[in-house]
Amino acid sequence: VSSISTNSPDLAIELDRSRPRGLRAQIEGELRTAIRSGRLAPGTALPSSRALAADLGVTRGVVVGAYDQLIAEGYLRSRQGSGTVVNATAGPAARPGPASSAPVPPVAVDFHPGVPDLDLFPRSAWGRATRTALQTLPDADLGYIDSRGLPAARRAVAEYVGRARGVSADADHVVICNGFGHGLSLVAAALRRAGHEAVAVEDPGYDGARDTLALAGLQCRGVPVDRHGLTVDALDRTGARAVIVTPAHQNPTGAVLSSDRRTALVDWARAVDGYVIEDDYDAEYRYDRQPAGAIQGLDPARVVYSGTTSKSLAPGLRLGWLVLPDELVGPVTTLRRAADSATSSLVQATFAAFLTAGDLDRHLRRTRLVYRRRRDALMDALDRWFPEATPGGVSAGLQVTITLPDGMDEARFVERAVRAGVRPYPLDRYRVGPRRRSLDPAGLVLGYGHLTPAELEDGARRLGGVAAELPD
Ligand SMILES: Cc1ncc(COP(=O)(O)O)c(C=O)c1O
Repeated sequence: VSSISTNSPDLAIELDRSRPRGLRAQIEGELRTAIRSGRLAPGTALPSSRALAADLGVTRGVVVGAYDQLIAEGYLRSRQGSGTVVNATAGPAARPGPASSAPVPPVAVDFHPGVPDLDLFPRSAWGRATRTALQTLPDADLGYIDSRGLPAARRAVAEYVGRARGVSADADHVVICNGFGHGLSLVAAALRRAGHEAVAVEDPGYDGARDTLALAGLQCRGVPVDRHGLTVDALDRTGARAVIVTPAHQNPTGAVLSSDRRTALVDWARAVDGYVIEDDYDAEYRYDRQPAGAIQGLDPARVVYSGTTSKSLAPGLRLGWLVLPDELVGPVTTLRRAADSATSSLVQATFAAFLTAGDLDRHLRRTRLVYRRRRDALMDALDRWFPEATPGGVSAGLQVTITLPDGMDEARFVERAVRAGVRPYPLDRYRVGPRRRSLDPAGLVLGYGHLTPAELEDGARRLGGVAAELPD
């Protein structure tokens, strides 16, 4: 088989000289396919017949014949003085679009949960840290690095979580990863390999974590949450030997895991020879209560600690960390190496410089005040416009829950609200099992961190309007 390709980057024509089909027909066929598929877009100029003939090693007449045929079919058009181009009307047949549905009106206020105000991202400080990183990063760190991360970044993270969150960490047990979801996917894969089939999760709880577990082939077993957090004594019934918890600020209810349950949780992990996966996603934001330290400090051999910059800085950074029990460091590092080697060394070096310069602390001090004011603005506005709603989980984080008045249906409320220009989020998307009506009132989650006080006022007014119009 002899096949020759053109040098043109846009025109890869392969001729098979052993095939009985004529060369002209092959060129026609290749061009037709390329135009139909969109690989050759309308308006693309084709090589002159002389150039293409030379590239393909055929006589010019063969190419002229192919071009003429395609011009006759409407695929190509000959432009006076400037050769042959793909016709504007050629190209992929119009594909049917998505099934048409009623247009969703844009909402004025979207209470999307858990998003920080991206406008507050500390661009100058991050820029300074990037410059420092570029000036000081050894060339070797631009190569393949330790899959756990750069030692300087791991040391800076260990220092930070030890100081700010009471985590018992040294650099050897830290793995820098691309946020909580990524860290969880590594831990889940390690657990699966070690024979775990299921992981217990909070109900209601963060749906993203359940998706990640499912991807790793692990089942999720829901464990009810009450106002003191996860009901630890229900864990035994799940048969799981690992559990994911948000002890500092339960997502979505906002409960803080009580101190006797913290102890009981770690005792459970010891008894089943398993692990607690501590998701400390928004621990930095506390307003009017003492910070609850991480439970990892109770038993570093049984708790996988996970932190992220998604709430404190920006989800788009994709940066987080795991502090692992000794036993899991090896398996997780091996999986990490196989999956994607490591987190970008430049991002890690920048973050290390940012942390050691004290810029994260400065940023948190500043943003805590902003979010606290927004939380207060939302509480005031709800009090004024929607007093029947009972707020919960208000003393920390970037979101609150509200309990709907008796008899109101979450889905119906959200549908009406969207039509009224405001989008709250139903608790239902966090639930694992069906709603237990007597214990679990209908409710909504309202993320407020990214909204200005004026928007919060407007949103609360619209929510109150929806409630007033819904029949009991
Ligand atoms: C409970 C919880 N954990 C973790 C995260 C953050 O995940 P990531 O670090 O993957 O962005 C979120 C984000 O919404 C969350 O709600």
